[in-house]
Amino acid sequence: MVHINDNYLKLKAGYLFPEIGRRVKAFCDANPDAKVIRLGIGDVTEPLPPAIVEAMHAAVDEMANRDTFRGYGPEQGYDFLRNAIAENDFQARGCNVSADEIFVSDGSKCDTGNILDIFGADNTVAVTDPVYPVYVDTNVMSGRTGAADASGRYAGLVYIPVTAENNFTPALPDQRVDLIYLCFPNNPTGTVASKETLRQWVDYAQANDSIILFDAAYEAFITDPEIPHSIYEIEGARDVAIEFRSFSKNAGFTGTRCAFTVVPKSLRGKTSNGDSVEIHPLWNRRHCTRFNGVSYPIQRGAAAAYSAAGRQQIGELVSFYLENARLLREGLTQVGIDVYGGVNAPYVWLKTPNDLSSWDFFDQLLQKGHLVGTPGSGFGAAGEGYFRLSAFNSRANVEEAVQRFVKSLS
Ligand code: MLT
Repeated sequence: MVHINDNYLKLKAGYLFPEIGRRVKAFCDANPDAKVIRLGIGDVTEPLPPAIVEAMHAAVDEMANRDTFRGYGPEQGYDFLRNAIAENDFQARGCNVSADEIFVSDGSKCDTGNILDIFGADNTVAVTDPVYPVYVDTNVMSGRTGAADASGRYAGLVYIPVTAENNFTPALPDQRVDLIYLCFPNNPTGTVASKETLRQWVDYAQANDSIILFDAAYEAFITDPEIPHSIYEIEGARDVAIEFRSFSKNAGFTGTRCAFTVVPKSLRGKTSNGDSVEIHPLWNRRHCTRFNGVSYPIQRGAAAAYSAAGRQQIGELVSFYLENARLLREGLTQVGIDVYGGVNAPYVWLKTPNDLSSWDFFDQLLQKGHLVGTPGSGFGAAGEGYFRLSAFNSRANVEEAVQRFVKSLS
């Protein structure tokens, strides 16, 4: 018989969101009349902005015409999109990122997992706890960990707790690590990192020859002008960081799929012989071998996000979700719940009432309020006793959700 990848057997139960889906389905099957409101997975609800839709329609028309039809595009993305990204997302903020350091892809989830292909299996990996589960699970799948303990923590990974006690600021590890995943604005806590915090991490990475895998998928939600949008706003970060970005949450592309990863040409790693090599050509090789690029109409739509109309419409979309977050935050605070995040991020992170476990609170909210959130413990052991609500929903549903949340407490 064929050998399987045994590492998959180390994974804890199902991936978090399918597990939530399973429980919600069981509830709905048993309660067919319940009108469940879903603030679990961070999936957008509002339609694509008109400027993006228009650009996609025009691109589809091009594909329908022999003279303008396109087959395979460049694997790394079309220049029109890479240039728009480099200019608007980075150069306009004073970050030294060029278009040929940008790799357009179908999602940050895929990229944050796939990036492991180009790094040796013996690297020490650090993650925050709680953490976006994809970082952990893909390390498990690729054999970089041992087994999980009773709390779900895997041997071999370095966990950095981020809780209310340390103001959700990840402390530098007291040992040397090779790869460090940081996500800001943070999923799941909805909190942000100051320039000073990121400066310390860049300094750490420089001193230890580490690489930071910086997930900035939620950067569009930053409202505080003092908070950096990109790790490349920190001097020296080009030499120690890869950044992941997405059109999913700002432009509503969760179903459409378009994202990008920045791999600076100055970033280096070492071979097992100790020779220093550039990381950029490795990722380029991996990307071109395993990926044929994002479709042309989708890239045209993504590029329209940077047009004057696109920027304004995306700004309105982001403000809409942030207002939802404010309603959640304030509604819950009024009834004495400890609430975090939700100011520079579309996620509200809260302490479960009466010290309920995260999953017990999930069940209570589902049963009594017909409301779905995400148990904090699903993001890691340090998330136990916390709960996440997503602000991605219609205004009516968010208002109703606040009322149901409050009622379900009594
Ligand atoms: C989440 O709910 O954490 C996100 O939607 C997951 C993702 O973006 O893959």
